[in-house]
Amino acid sequence: MKLSPLAVMLLLNFLGTVPHAQGNPKAVVSITPSEHVFTCEKVTLSCDINDEKEFGWRYSWYKNNNILHAHGDRLSADSSMHEVNISCAYQSDSGVYTCRGQKNDSQSSEISNTATLTVSETPQAVLSVTPQSWLTEGDSITLKCEVTDSSTEWTFSWYRDVPYRDNNGHIRYRAVLLSDSSRGSGGSYTLSPAALNHTGVYLCRGKRRGEPAFHTHYSNLQPLWISGESPPVSLIISPNRTQHFTDDSLSLSCEDQSHSTGWILRQYTHKWGLLICPHARSVLGSTCKISFLSTSYTGVYWCESESGENSNPVNITVHGTSHGQTSFSVLMPISKAVTFSLYVLVTIILLVKCYRARVRTEDRGKNVIEELVHLRK
Ligand SMILES: *[C@@H]1O[C@H](CO)[C@@H](O)[C@H](O)[C@H]1NC(C)=O
Ligand SMILES: *[C@@H]1O[C@H](CO)[C@@H](O)[C@H](O)[C@H]1NC(C)=O
Ligand SMILES: *[C@@H]1O[C@H](CO)[C@@H](O)[C@H](O)[C@H]1NC(C)=O
Ligand SMILES: *[C@@H]1O[C@H](CO)[C@@H](O)[C@H](O)[C@H]1NC(C)=O
Ligand SMILES: *[C@@H]1O[C@H](CO)[C@@H](O)[C@H](O)[C@H]1NC(C)=O
Repeated sequence: MKLSPLAVMLLLNFLGTVPHAQGNPKAVVSITPSEHVFTCEKVTLSCDINDEKEFGWRYSWYKNNNILHAHGDRLSADSSMHEVNISCAYQSDSGVYTCRGQKNDSQSSEISNTATLTVSETPQAVLSVTPQSWLTEGDSITLKCEVTDSSTEWTFSWYRDVPYRDNNGHIRYRAVLLSDSSRGSGGSYTLSPAALNHTGVYLCRGKRRGEPAFHTHYSNLQPLWISGESPPVSLIISPNRTQHFTDDSLSLSCEDQSHSTGWILRQYTHKWGLLICPHARSVLGSTCKISFLSTSYTGVYWCESESGENSNPVNITVHGTSHGQTSFSVLMPISKAVTFSLYVLVTIILLVKCYRARVRTEDRGKNVIEELVHLRK
């Protein structure tokens, strides 16, 4: 058969283009849920080839142009390596990913586009309060939650740190989601007018918009103290001094007329933050006995129930001067006494040594005379 020049040209054209397209299809790499994820999120890398007969492809993966081995605790893949799952992404997984498909008959795809994975540190939620954390009934308070990552859109959840007693009577705390959380979705949660039962400790966290859900860690604990006219319980301080000094003893208890159980004494010290009232001293939950005060007890104390009722909060300031005087007045005589006894002891030792030395010379002298007398005999 003789081919016309035009037919030859068309055929060459055909051979030159179509086989190329058939032999080297393009691979496309994609990352879910997003190319920007946070530490320990689950990430899936997938490699797709635009080929009707997808069957039979095996895939190779490259991270920053180095071959990626999908073995180990965190990386897993199906046998063809079509998908590589990272169960808990680390910042070291950040990089540029590409893939290539290979068929049994040594046919391979073109290298894929690049996809850049960025794994950032899990952002922190920071809770603050305006205008201040100490207010009176009827005031308006705004809690503000901020997430230290502005590249993502966040919604916010609000919690209250609620104390409760477990089955063994130990006091524990749990973060309880505030049911009207939706009004704080924009990052501000307003309490207006503030009520006595708003006294408590609050937390927040951010949730990334969209799927899959991702939460930041819980924020710092932010206490809020509201004083009011008629609290359902009173915090009794005994002895009720105007000033407290180190090494004084102090007893705090929650007392109400109707039922005296169910109240938990809460302690916020400026030095250590929130504590369970007596650091391992006598705990009865609603009573706290401190045998020796120290300045680190300076802080705010209040009674709170599991249902969120409160006493008025009380500031307790422990002054340190008494302690200073105590150590001065007690330690000074001791050190003086020690110095004096050392002086007396050294003098006695010296005297004894002198005496002994004299006795020994006298003895030796006596012996010499006795020997001489003996020789003369
Ligand atoms: C990877 O994760 C996807 C989605 O969770 C899952 O369907 C798939 O089976 C996983 N593959 C492997 C190899 O673990
Ligand atoms: C080709 O594929 C078959 C199964 O699909 C496999 O058993 C065989 O080992 C492969 N041959 C080569 C040369 O990779
Ligand atoms: C302490 O005494 C003052 C008056 O001296 C009184 O107003 C206050 O209620 C007392 N506080 C407590 C906790 O007992
Ligand atoms: C506070 O008390 C009011 C009634 O005085 C009640 O409606 C509200 O639910 C209480 N809030 C909390 C947080 O317990
Ligand atoms: C407790 O102290 C804070 C400042 O440290 C102050 O704003 C608040 O009014 C005090 N409250 C009481 C009841 O003394």
